[in-house]
Amino acid sequence: MTEAWRPDEDEETSRRGASGPVKVYAPAKINLHLGVGPLREDGYHELHTVYHAISLHDELTARRGDTLTLTMEGEGAGELALDGTNLIIRAAQALAGYAGVPAHARLHLRKQIPLAAGLAGGSADAAAALVACDALWGTGLTRDELAEVASGLGSDVPFLVFGGTALGTGRGEAVSPVLVRPTTWHWAVAIADGGLSTPKVYGELDRLRDAGAAPLPVGSPDRLLGALRQRDPAVLGAALGNDLEPAAVSLWPELTEVLAAGRGAGALAGIVSGSGPTCVFLAADAGHAEALARELTAADVCRVVRTAHGPVAGARVG
Ligand code: C5P
Repeated sequence: MTEAWRPDEDEETSRRGASGPVKVYAPAKINLHLGVGPLREDGYHELHTVYHAISLHDELTARRGDTLTLTMEGEGAGELALDGTNLIIRAAQALAGYAGVPAHARLHLRKQIPLAAGLAGGSADAAAALVACDALWGTGLTRDELAEVASGLGSDVPFLVFGGTALGTGRGEAVSPVLVRPTTWHWAVAIADGGLSTPKVYGELDRLRDAGAAPLPVGSPDRLLGALRQRDPAVLGAALGNDLEPAAVSLWPELTEVLAAGRGAGALAGIVSGSGPTCVFLAADAGHAEALARELTAADVCRVVRTAHGPVAGARVG
């Protein structure tokens, strides 16, 4: 729910936009299918991916201010730079530039999505900053316009403006919705003690491929899209695939143990999420996801285990 409208007395109430705080939910993403093509000349890989927004989320609150500032609490507080290198600040500046308004806001992040985890937490926060500042400043951009600004911030950011389950092509920034009857999928999310650098994982995949040591690519997303239509978690589990998984495992060999522990605990399937090191395990229902989380916690193979469901909406005022 939007917090109560509390106009600042010294602010002109005639100004467009919200004068009270705007709180935005920023969901994390996983990739149900991550097909990685060759390295392009611009340093990115051509992707065919199926994104899926999950209920694990950060919260970004935007308030009026005379400058642009960012504070944070939660996961990664004290580790994450809060200056102009932070993607949230860059997102606010990019929106202000696009809309021709001053980039003035006080932003506060409550972070639950771990850093460098393969869950696109930084991208989620950037999408949230676009949505929050758009509401705060009354710039009234459409989701498509926000996604256009988002594509300059990172490959995953446009998806996180939309959320749901969607096909990503190009370097991941070209997003189209997957039209299937809504089904909720349940997950146990095994979060590692530490992070992996996305460019390093892509680089490791190139190295493994050059050495002939990477398994066959997962190919087109058609099988996964067909599985989504069947609405059967066992069928979906069999269709999950991630070309980055061998590269993440190569850089973080303990992930083999995590994947084995989840499968041993009865998960329908387990994959590395994006570039890792988070692993996600598909459950039959919410109760099964809780049971998997308990078993994975007892197995002591990762820092913390969460449960989540998807798909959920992208960054939203709430
Ligand atoms: O787009 P983003 O800034 O999130 O990408 C981070 C890095 O991940 C890129 O610099 C690149 O090394 C790698 N990447 C890639 N191919 C993609 C997306 C990301 O190689 N399609």
